[in-house]
Amino acid sequence: MSIKPEIVVANDADAVAATAAQRITDAAGQAIAARGQFTLVLSGGRTPEATYGILARANPPIAIDWSRTFLFFGDERFVPHDDPRSNFRMAKRCLLARSTVPVANVFPIATDLESPAACAADYARRMAEFFDVSPDDPPPAFDLILLGLGDDGHTASLFPGAAALDENREWVTRSPPGTLPPPVDRVTMTYPLINAAREVMFLVTGANKHVPLTEVLQRQVEPSVRPAAGVRPAHGKLIWIIDHAAAGA
Ligand code: 6PG
Repeated sequence: MSIKPEIVVANDADAVAATAAQRITDAAGQAIAARGQFTLVLSGGRTPEATYGILARANPPIAIDWSRTFLFFGDERFVPHDDPRSNFRMAKRCLLARSTVPVANVFPIATDLESPAACAADYARRMAEFFDVSPDDPPPAFDLILLGLGDDGHTASLFPGAAALDENREWVTRSPPGTLPPPVDRVTMTYPLINAAREVMFLVTGANKHVPLTEVLQRQVEPSVRPAAGVRPAHGKLIWIIDHAAAGA
């Protein structure tokens, strides 16, 4: 049984970013106090850029102990890390290059192997090594996974109707391009891994997200149609931080 989501409606995109940055900082403090480390999964797209910018500035009370924080990626485009479409490049520009995050604490999804499938298997292996488990074990529980919502209801690189939605064992898989840009192959975390997290936080802004957001929040729709609807952490918290435009308020 998944827990009922918490929905926070902020005024605008800036308020969403400020709220998210504070929540992420609080989650970091709690995880570090409880387990000595904070495992955070970053999302791609444009929406989290402002949140990453606030986290990078590290102005108390928003100041994460980066030495104990380990950063992973929910999905990646199968392009070089310096390509403008790369999610890693965005995180580097907005957060990593502007903060004191140690390079050794950052786990990008490799995109220089022969195929997206090889990159997915490699990422699961590196994750298993980090958590000191086997990739054949049930997925590890990240402290916090950040996600976005596409206009078509996709999240991470889980696209409507895609085979990746049916993956019920692997933690990471390949995903062919969806219908929205950029039209590139992807590597993505799967539902089993996402739904094992202690906390999942969606950041959603803009009127173009209103329809998919409403359908997902009202649970009116199947994950095959709006893949974000398949995000239901089994034991963890689910939080949506959205702005008035997306809420239609
Ligand atoms: C990606 C993403 C994707 C993103 C949504 C929302 O690599 O494309 O991780 O799931 O979060 O498409 O993107 P925006 O924030 O740009 O609207």
